[in-house]
Amino acid sequence: MADRTAPVGFFDSGLGGISVLREARKLLPHENYIYYGDSANAPYGTRSAEEIVSLSDAVVRKLLGLGAKAVVIACNTATGEAVNVLRERYPDVPIVGTEPAIKPAVSAFPGGRVLVMATPQCLASRRVRELAARYESEAELVLLPCPGLMEFVERGELTGRALRQHLEGLLRPVLGRPFDAVVLGCTHYPFLRGAVAELTDSAAIIDGNLGISRQLKRRLEEAGLLNDMKNFGTTEILNSSPDPALAERSRMLLSL
Ligand code: DGL
Repeated sequence: MADRTAPVGFFDSGLGGISVLREARKLLPHENYIYYGDSANAPYGTRSAEEIVSLSDAVVRKLLGLGAKAVVIACNTATGEAVNVLRERYPDVPIVGTEPAIKPAVSAFPGGRVLVMATPQCLASRRVRELAARYESEAELVLLPCPGLMEFVERGELTGRALRQHLEGLLRPVLGRPFDAVVLGCTHYPFLRGAVAELTDSAAIIDGNLGISRQLKRRLEEAGLLNDMKNFGTTEILNSSPDPALAERSRMLLSL
């Protein structure tokens, strides 16, 4: 039986999953966390499914080796390609995945026009294609692959001209008519919320981070693994890149 005070392991291809961790720390402040950013292998979003599965598996093994009692795949791309395999390989570990928040967007704007921004491989994954197919009769879904966008967050470039130009280039083909909602379907993108909002008029900008945190809480409760300590938990940040700037940037993003 795993220890309730053991940490919850979070991982992403890089720094994006910190946007999920921030929300989880608010909802579950007494938990201890280990965050693993795989920046040395980022981006995942332009890799093959096989590569994503094998990279994700290696990170999960690392987190379990560090004593994690549960794992949050704080990455839509890794969830899309690897969550089923990981749940099969580690049946005793609660594993929480991340998926583009299409359901909440469509529920908020039935019949509306909804833009889903995500990585190319995330949108190509069977899991996300099936998710989109479930809701396409309820709203006009526009799926937009956004290569090159997560790299701005990895570089700590959350504003500025180059970012704006890159976003304009991605959005130009779909901005003919206004959107009711924009789904940030990659965990890096909430850090670019301001820049996306500037270009998408008054569309509601939606991410799934609160939903994922609530799901983590449910899974820990069900497994009897919720930390019942009264003190605030700790957060350890690890990164596969030897560049110390990434760990520093991670802490900066966590404190935003
Ligand atoms: N943050 C990741 C996601 O949510 C992907 C970024 C990448 O590695 O391409 O999909």
